[in-house]
Amino acid sequence: MFIQLSHAKTKASFLMCPPLHYKISYSINPWMNRENQPNYKLAWKQWVDLYQLIKTLGAQVTLLKPTLNPDQVFSSDAGIVFNNIFFSSTFRFAERQNETSYWMQWFLEQGYQTLSLRKNGGYLEGSGDAFVVRDSLICGTGFRSTLTAAYECAEALALRPEPIKLSDRRFYHLDTCFSKLTDDLALFFPKAFQPESCRRLENLLECFAVPEEEALRFACNIVVIDRDLILPSGCPKTRDLLENLGFRTHEVEMSEFIKAGGASKCLSLKLSNLPQSKSAPSQEHHANRQSDCRFFSWLCCKCEPDYRYRRTKCICFATGLAPHPYP
Ligand code: ARG
Repeated sequence: MFIQLSHAKTKASFLMCPPLHYKISYSINPWMNRENQPNYKLAWKQWVDLYQLIKTLGAQVTLLKPTLNPDQVFSSDAGIVFNNIFFSSTFRFAERQNETSYWMQWFLEQGYQTLSLRKNGGYLEGSGDAFVVRDSLICGTGFRSTLTAAYECAEALALRPEPIKLSDRRFYHLDTCFSKLTDDLALFFPKAFQPESCRRLENLLECFAVPEEEALRFACNIVVIDRDLILPSGCPKTRDLLENLGFRTHEVEMSEFIKAGGASKCLSLKLSNLPQSKSAPSQEHHANRQSDCRFFSWLCCKCEPDYRYRRTKCICFATGLAPHPYP
């Protein structure tokens, strides 16, 4: 079998958040252990490698200014982007609830229509748990997102609800054990699902299974840019499988983010049909600012004024160069 890809003219577009304040400050999934902190510099390198690879593959990347929230780097969890609608997440754990207002503000500024669950409507953890497949909203439930929330969101987006029950705590978000590759093909780790849910997934899409040892290296956590797929390193069997299906695969080292229970796909939220708004800076402006190391000096010197005092020598993590003079 070989993949059929649409000849879409528009390239994918992603929203990311630099890992300026990324660390393990609490434990809300089995991967997180405060004794096992990420190496800060290495995490930056891995994030920048991913950021640059996404751009090299022709996609656009827009950045959210970092906030103090250590998990804000996992932009996939911000919400669900569907056409010009942003359906905001309602996080289960208090530890992540402060992130919401920053994402919401960004999407409002960009001109999206924003929606969220009604009060006491349960929990919904955005694209960490939800995938739009044709006219359905597949939503992982059991650990983070709740059944009622999955129904409410599907109804608001006029999609068919397809709640899927997760059963293994290590795969607490749907995107840790499932990836939509095209509207017909998916990758998954079957043992992470309750059997009936597993069968329903297989009825919706042609699903290919990854081996357990690679599922545990986040093999299913894939950034999809048409035929190009970015997956965490250390998943050779999954790469072979995908290459045989006609995809081109690329790998990035994600060790420092796996310590928090996330990887490549969790670090990038796919945007569709990015709308333009009068008040928002143009995309060209964003693109220029991100295209060279000035962006990184902007990040540490302007966006985060304290940063230069905490770290006397401020260097660009992308190039290793000293930043341009402060304005
Ligand atoms: N530490 C974060 C949490 O537990 C990791 C989120 C990873 N995101 C994802 N889409 N799987 O919420």
